[in-house]
Amino acid sequence: MGAMIPIPSTQQHWSLDSFDWNAIDPTRWGERDGMFYMVAAASFMEITTDRYTRNLIDKFAGDDEVTEWLGQHWLPEELQHGEALRRYVTTAWPDFEWDRVYAAFLSEFAAYCAAERLEPTRAREMASRCVVEMGTASFYTTLGRISSEPILAELAACIAADEVRHYKHFYRYFRRYQKAERTGRHSIVAAMWNRLRMIDGEDNVIAVKHLYEARHPGARFDRRIYKRIRRSSREAIRRHFPHRMCAGMLLRPLELGRRGHQFAVPIVETVARRVVP
Ligand SMILES: [Fe+2]
Ligand SMILES: [Fe+2]
Repeated sequence: MGAMIPIPSTQQHWSLDSFDWNAIDPTRWGERDGMFYMVAAASFMEITTDRYTRNLIDKFAGDDEVTEWLGQHWLPEELQHGEALRRYVTTAWPDFEWDRVYAAFLSEFAAYCAAERLEPTRAREMASRCVVEMGTASFYTTLGRISSEPILAELAACIAADEVRHYKHFYRYFRRYQKAERTGRHSIVAAMWNRLRMIDGEDNVIAVKHLYEARHPGARFDRRIYKRIRRSSREAIRRHFPHRMCAGMLLRPLELGRRGHQFAVPIVETVARRVVP
């Protein structure tokens, strides 16, 4: 499935041809581990989007506006993120066997993602999706800011802009369902919290594990190694994480206005620590 090329949508804002891949110097990153893990893990997750979104599209059956947008815009864009990141990884780290490692990752991940749990109502699911897009928008914004390599910085900025647009769509649909279903703030917080807890969950650990084992044949991966890998880029992330944007995207569905900021600060700090592996 990973090899599936998305059907090009005429409204996509960029394509793989938008970037000068030849300008990437394959010796640029060298053994800079943090960047490799971040970009390669993201390529795995994005390119697998179709695996764990089928039930999302099913959940909105009958709402043609939503299912059409999901199927014809959102999904092709997420898959394009995966294709572009794969292209980046295979160009910048030419020794890395993307296809082989992805296949190993997928064989473990497929069972895990088949069980993606959706929220009990459509409004809650839309609120949950806002959190996902907040997470990816924050991740790619950070990645774009910390990349000293211009093509990656450009690519990350393009993806971040897509994720912000996705957020806006999900937010609009959220509002519509919130009104229709009369969802209270309590329920919305619960849905968002469920999703926040999933950020940097088991899926990222599985991706990093396969990446690590590919780079260190025979070595055993464990939590300690996972933590060490994450620590390697923590400082740069802390300085460049888009705190304000993240807080705004989290608070918007809750309509807390200015009052909410004191409530959001600790959450944003947690997200900042977890969103970027
Ligand atoms: Fe994406
Ligand atoms: Fe997205």
